[in-house]
Amino acid sequence: MPTESKWTAGKIKALKGREKFACLTAYDYTTARLLDEAGLPLLLVGDSLAMTMLGYADTLPVTMEAMLHHTAAVARGVKSALVVADMPFMSYQASISQAIENAGRFVKQAGADAVKIEGGAFRTPTIKALIENGIPVLGHIGLTPQSIHAMGGYKVQGKKPAEAQALLHDAQVLAEAGVFAMVLECMPPALGEEITRTVPTPTIGIGAGPHCDGQILVTHDLLGLFSEFTPKFVKRYANLGAEMKKAFEAYKADVAKGTFPGTEHCY
Ligand code: KIV
Repeated sequence: MPTESKWTAGKIKALKGREKFACLTAYDYTTARLLDEAGLPLLLVGDSLAMTMLGYADTLPVTMEAMLHHTAAVARGVKSALVVADMPFMSYQASISQAIENAGRFVKQAGADAVKIEGGAFRTPTIKALIENGIPVLGHIGLTPQSIHAMGGYKVQGKKPAEAQALLHDAQVLAEAGVFAMVLECMPPALGEEITRTVPTPTIGIGAGPHCDGQILVTHDLLGLFSEFTPKFVKRYANLGAEMKKAFEAYKADVAKGTFPGTEHCY
């Protein structure tokens, strides 16, 4: 039973024009609890967990089973935030019935409140079908990492006027299709601003400038836990990777010296 304080897709949608909001990715129970306690309204179980949690080079190999496993862990850690499951590559592209079946698994088996799928205007039949079947959808346009092979790499999108027009059109069509919000990834700030001003649906930027209604980052990037590649749009708020390494080294040295466990740790 959802509580009064539980964020819903409708409540996120209603933030448009009222307040700016921060979202982050979550992949596990402990981090989800901390993010929820910190008051973040939306946690995305991003397919970026392919890299941050599983060590793959990109998001393409991550499976439905892995995404369900992580989504369920996040849902167990959350009381208030909206839990959005990222539908992995080839879990929704083949057909609308495949998309409904897999999105339904995120809700039924893993406790997700909504799903995210990548793609512009061409994706609206799938988006509409999911919404008609009771599953709120977060859109995602601009740089869509599941299409890196078609895009030729991780490149800023919408720099040319025709591309910018196409993205503006995608945003309008997604809003009409009924997404409760849409991620705008890697585009010039002026385009992020224009889309945000034009559509009645909240935009959530990642590398799309300061004018979006909300912002999202990969939690591992913000915490300094994942330093193999740091995109320009990341702001690091902590250096936990270095802190963790220091703690591991201190523990290793204590054990080698025989100073851990101390008498206070013994029965
Ligand atoms: O998978 C992911 O982390 C994303 C971003 C939008 C944060 O899709």
